[in-house]
Amino acid sequence: MKATAKAHTNIALIKYWGKRNEPIILPTNSNLSLTLDGFSTVTTVHFQEELSSDEFILNDKLIEDEASKRVTGFLNKVRAMAGKDMYARIHSLNHVPTAAGFASSASGFAALAAASTKAIGLELNDTELSILTRQGSGSACRSIYGGFVEWQMGEEENGSDSYAVPIASKDHWDIRVAAVVLSATEKKVSSRDGMRRTVETSPFYDGWLQQTPKDLEEIKTAIHDKDFEKTGSIAEVNCMRMHATTLGANPPFTYWQDTTMRVMQTVQQMREEGIPAYFTIDAGPNVKVLYLPEDERKVKQKLEQIAGVEDVIVSKPGKGISYL
Ligand code: DP6
Repeated sequence: MKATAKAHTNIALIKYWGKRNEPIILPTNSNLSLTLDGFSTVTTVHFQEELSSDEFILNDKLIEDEASKRVTGFLNKVRAMAGKDMYARIHSLNHVPTAAGFASSASGFAALAAASTKAIGLELNDTELSILTRQGSGSACRSIYGGFVEWQMGEEENGSDSYAVPIASKDHWDIRVAAVVLSATEKKVSSRDGMRRTVETSPFYDGWLQQTPKDLEEIKTAIHDKDFEKTGSIAEVNCMRMHATTLGANPPFTYWQDTTMRVMQTVQQMREEGIPAYFTIDAGPNVKVLYLPEDERKVKQKLEQIAGVEDVIVSKPGKGISYL
């Protein structure tokens, strides 16, 4: 009744931004990500008769807040699927700088889903695992696979056709992603609350829904053709469109800080100097920069020099779920 799994986080090149069904997490648009090798979560789940509740230990600390409620809520789904009512001890190690405002929910829920289903004796294929993982955190359903992954929104009310599909393996294309960690960050609006507020109140949201399917189709062709400029520029414009919707929300908000904008400007400047580099930003102030391996030294150096940048962590395309 014990299993350990490892999952990597992913960066969305076409964003998931909004739910059409909150309880089972169905998105309003299909989206696409690249799994990264630099950030991962390793989770051990041990179901035991003698426990009277779930116990969630993250980076050696017992967690008793909202995060542990989300873990327990997810394990309730796993228990219901398996027809078992045992509680579990969950040990998670996050190799993601969570304090720096990096999302760990993608690797976190992917590792939790893989370890818990294995520990409880469910034998799920990757599609079934992606469907289950989606219900813990939407972006996590993409981390089941390595490389370039599409989360197809599906049409069914029950979510049976809303899951991730690998579209190109990690070995298809060696592009790099520099995660730019800012020194002072505090995530004020969670992605969950931010997307809800945007869907409910932003008049710009309709524009997002109209444009994103086109961005998705174009980026899939660009990835297939290994067209870096096209891939990067579509990712960047799609990121800007997502962030633009938050400015139209009521009350309005932005995830950007002054350093976020300095990084964005530096990336645009690199392009003017002939270095192909593009940025994307999730629901937080940190920036991810896409570039080609031959430009690594120059890109890293330029990013590290920006005032307010604490660290630059480089990733290659990463792999999907593994069991340890
Ligand atoms: C901006 O997957 O964290 O990173 O489904 O509510 O857990 P929940 O949201 P989450 O949202 C991620 C939003 C995003 C874009 C993306 O990863 O596609």
